[in-house]
Amino acid sequence: MAASKILAAAATLLGAAEAAKWAVIAAGSKGFFNYRHQADACHAYQVMKKSGIPEDHIILMMEDDVANSTENPFPGQLFNEPGENPPDVYAGCKIDYRGRDVTAKLFMDVLTGKAPGKCLKSGPEDHVFINFVDHGGVGIIEFPNGPLLHVKELSQTLDEMKQKNMFKQLVFYMEACESGSMFPQLKKDDGILAVTAANSQESSWGTYCESSAKVKGKDIGSCLGDLFSVNWMQDDDKGMMSSEKIKDQIATVSKLTNKSHVCVFGDNSVEEETIGDFELGTGESAVEAPPAENSVDVRDIYLTQSIYAWRTAAPGSAEKAKAWKTMMKAAADRQFDEDLFTKMAEHACADVNLHDCVGKFMRDRAELKDIDCHYSLSGQVFGQCPVSLFHRSPGGWNGYNMKYSQMLVNFCEGQAVLGKSTEDLRKVIAKACPLSLSRGAPELLV
Ligand SMILES: *[C@@H]1O[C@H](CO)[C@@H](O)[C@H](O)[C@H]1NC(C)=O
Ligand SMILES: *[C@@H]1O[C@H](CO)[C@@H](O)[C@H](O)[C@H]1NC(C)=O
Repeated sequence: MAASKILAAAATLLGAAEAAKWAVIAAGSKGFFNYRHQADACHAYQVMKKSGIPEDHIILMMEDDVANSTENPFPGQLFNEPGENPPDVYAGCKIDYRGRDVTAKLFMDVLTGKAPGKCLKSGPEDHVFINFVDHGGVGIIEFPNGPLLHVKELSQTLDEMKQKNMFKQLVFYMEACESGSMFPQLKKDDGILAVTAANSQESSWGTYCESSAKVKGKDIGSCLGDLFSVNWMQDDDKGMMSSEKIKDQIATVSKLTNKSHVCVFGDNSVEEETIGDFELGTGESAVEAPPAENSVDVRDIYLTQSIYAWRTAAPGSAEKAKAWKTMMKAAADRQFDEDLFTKMAEHACADVNLHDCVGKFMRDRAELKDIDCHYSLSGQVFGQCPVSLFHRSPGGWNGYNMKYSQMLVNFCEGQAVLGKSTEDLRKVIAKACPLSLSRGAPELLV
């Protein structure tokens, strides 16, 4: 009796020591010009897999429209770094949810263990690693089939995971513009550590763009990676997982990510863990990747990449003519967004007696406090504003105009100055954004 009790106690202790590891990876975009996000996501899958996390503990969701795109010079392959013989990260990249299934709701349901298919089934002793790569703006990140994931929903999701005892420690690496705005609620003692590619006021950066997006001598025609993402994964690829602490990785990656400010939120005690506690280390080291050169502000990528294509195409060729058209459409699409959001500010300011009201609301950087107001207004832009076919985004937001999520923050925090309620501001947006318009370049849809 006593012996079996001791055995049972020992088993519990052993069980407790054997924390399981889980990983959830999501890429939020679609379209060949967003190649880098799916390359990052498959690379993240490879890193998790190689480090020994069993396949049934890794959940990957992405549109999966890039590897087989007619624009891909290497059909069925994806590369996350340039070179003569870089690894094909698509080979063996097992995607659990693809195409239309990939939505913000699915992401939340996977994390809280509610998705009907494969989802996170972690317990109170487990270590969970989450990685999201895509476009974002203050308080919002994008999903390829909508809707947005708002900071309000992400906070609720992490709270629910905490209440359901779904982790001992959770590490969230997020690559997106203004991603530093997505974790305002994390506490110092709840076991969650979030690391973001940028602070709450700046873009994140793509890398291996333009002349650096070359594999086996061929131009891929799209950036191969994102700067923060390739930096942490190349650090993992060095195979030091079992000895390197998370805080050491953060220090290394912060230095390498020299175009934006890598930020850390939440429970700093998690930083003392070794990377291997989240991604079992193997000690296997990889070939050093080339330096992350030709990095471009994410908001400019679609334009600069089309300028590059035009500049490098042979004079008089059909490619050059096509690239010219793409470039002009990219510029026009961008101007459309500038005009649209300017109009929104003009409507908001129309009856307000404040010097340079439009300029102030477009430029200010108020801190997001009224989360409910922002949730409502960003949802209104998603539902009411014209969809950019050029960007292939589902609602009124796209990788470029998400920078104006800050303007909605300014509206919410400036309600008193504007003399407008959230409901009034929703009307302002509707007025600037008549529903059912769509714009852009349908022929670019693959
Ligand atoms: C991509 O193409 C390969 C080869 O034709 C095919 O086996 C695979 O199912 C395709 N994948 C997708 C997502 O369409
Ligand atoms: C940023 O890092 C890249 C890649 O290591 C390097 O080529 C570049 O010179 C660095 N830029 C600055 C401003 O430090």
